[in-house]
Amino acid sequence: MLELTSVTKYFGGLAAVDDLDLEINKGEIVGLIGPNGAGKTTLFNLITGVLRVTEGNIRFEDKNITNKKPCLIAEHGIVRTFQETSVFPDFSVMLNIIAACHLNPRIGFLESIFRTSKYHEKEEHIVERAMEIMQFAGLWEVKDVPAKSLPHGYKKILGIAIALAARPKLLLLDEPLCGMNAAEVVRTNTLIRKAWESSITLLLIEHNMKATMSLCQRIVVLSFGMKIAEGPPQQIKKDRKVIQAYLGAARKYEGPFRYSEELKKSKEDIPAKSEDNENAATNEKHKGPFRYSRGY
Ligand SMILES: Nc1ncnc2c1ncn2[C@@H]1O[C@H](COP(=O)(O)OP(=O)(O)OP(=O)(O)O)[C@@H](O)[C@H]1O
Ligand SMILES: [Mg+2]
Repeated sequence: MLELTSVTKYFGGLAAVDDLDLEINKGEIVGLIGPNGAGKTTLFNLITGVLRVTEGNIRFEDKNITNKKPCLIAEHGIVRTFQETSVFPDFSVMLNIIAACHLNPRIGFLESIFRTSKYHEKEEHIVERAMEIMQFAGLWEVKDVPAKSLPHGYKKILGIAIALAARPKLLLLDEPLCGMNAAEVVRTNTLIRKAWESSITLLLIEHNMKATMSLCQRIVVLSFGMKIAEGPPQQIKKDRKVIQAYLGAARKYEGPFRYSEELKKSKEDIPAKSEDNENAATNEKHKGPFRYSRGY
């Protein structure tokens, strides 16, 4: 369904996503995990066209969508939520979802000015759909609450509901469980599973390992922009590279602190890579523990 080939993204010479191959099959729930700064959100931004790919190729349902505009990619059926939920804060939950439903079906400018019969038909359909989505997402009881007054968990669920309103084929969720209490995690997990059961394919970024392991069939692990492991949760749990990446020592195995030869020459103050020297490791982090492009 989604196929990434050698996708690379440089930020000023630093490879935030580094030569990444990734395939998502229709009907899967795939987890995308990795330590902070591993390049997970950047990857979502590349898939959805928010950022331009430096090198590589992205295909969705056999169409090349590399560097296409975000609205076109959304029309193809790839929809994402954001790490920080973006809603209209003063709108009620219902109005937020109605606004999202207006993208599909669209109401034309003239239709809305002249209030044609088609306009009334579409408007009715949109309100019905918004109500369905609120029930589906468990937001009915808070439908009249302004988004800004919602508890954190509901706000995140509203973000997912807004994404669902766009009728995704592939839904990308960026840390949907972040900052939630136990009850909110359960509610959101149930919603994610329901979305999957309703034939939506899912790619999920999450730091909550327990939830990720129980939700996902397959997990892809990024570290310093590179894929360091991929497989079923049970296998990922035991993977030495993954464990080391989370302990902050992945470089022991494959050396994610890859610098180009040019950079090594031009930046002689890069600290020595000593496993025992915690300060050196911290300094390295601040300098950017990534591969740099040639000539940077
Ligand atoms: N717009 C940008 N400009 C420059 N550097 C960026 C930009 N966006 C991200 N980066 C850098 O790219 C790297 C990957 O960031 P990204 O946000 O993708 O990580 P992440 O895996 O989503 O981390 P987290 O788990 O903390 O959300 C980081 O070093 C980050 O500072
Ligand atoms: Mg992120």
